Amino acid sequence: MKSIKSLSALGISGLLAIALVTGCGTGEKANQTAGQASPEKKVIVMGTSADYPPYEFHDQSSGKDEIVGFDVDIAKKIASELGYELKIQDMDFNGLLPALQAGRVGFVMAGMTPTDERRQNVDFSILYYDAKNTIVAKKGSNLTKPEDLKGKKVGVQLGSIQEGDAKELAKEIQGMELKPLNKIPEIIQEIKAGRIDAAIIEDTVAKGYTGANPDLQFHVIPPKGPNGSAVAFPKGSKNAEEFNKVLKKLKDSGEMEQLVKKWFEQK
Ligand code: ARG
Repeated sequence: MKSIKSLSALGISGLLAIALVTGCGTGEKANQTAGQASPEKKVIVMGTSADYPPYEFHDQSSGKDEIVGFDVDIAKKIASELGYELKIQDMDFNGLLPALQAGRVGFVMAGMTPTDERRQNVDFSILYYDAKNTIVAKKGSNLTKPEDLKGKKVGVQLGSIQEGDAKELAKEIQGMELKPLNKIPEIIQEIKAGRIDAAIIEDTVAKGYTGANPDLQFHVIPPKGPNGSAVAFPKGSKNAEEFNKVLKKLKDSGEMEQLVKKWFEQK
């Protein structure tokens, strides 16, 4: 199981790792005092899908495998402000809300957009970042607007709002066929290999992947429905309110702006 490797790489204690990997954690397990050794510092587990630079991704440049990004920096600030010890658990995007509902993670930060459908099962913080959808395709393909996707195979991340948005588009656009995949890098590979024609991906993420793959291009499409990122919590969680306080503070102090500059503007 891949998560075992990334958990140990992140230095998660054996006990907690076993609890997480075997999936026997309850709501309390993902958000409780960290064993006997340091009873005063509570561990909080963040669930994420680290295939989404610059929000969250694996960085091996230091020699060890670390999950870094915009969301991770925000989560670290919130955790330190609220006195939690932060642990991060990586999984497929589609598994995040089930993990939250099962209590295997205490909160989710994954560039996740609050939608009415998701709100039926989880609570969300205030928005901390805004985003738009784009069409990613091979350079020169002329696939730049939703109408161009007629008769095309289009990749989307399974369980993402882009999957829902693409389903809506497919109702209007003849012969547009969806291919939902688990990880963004898989989607990018499928386009490069010509097995799909295009994908619908968020702007900042599309910018990064097309920057790294000069044979690809992206075009922003007009927004329909909710956009942006918020933190997700189990329904009724007390964390939502305290997280919101820190998020507001980070916005007011200009720290959020600095993080936006650090992760979204330098490249
Ligand atoms: N914002 C979109 C959503 O909420 C996509 C997020 C995908 N995030 C990820 N870490 N892969 O559905």
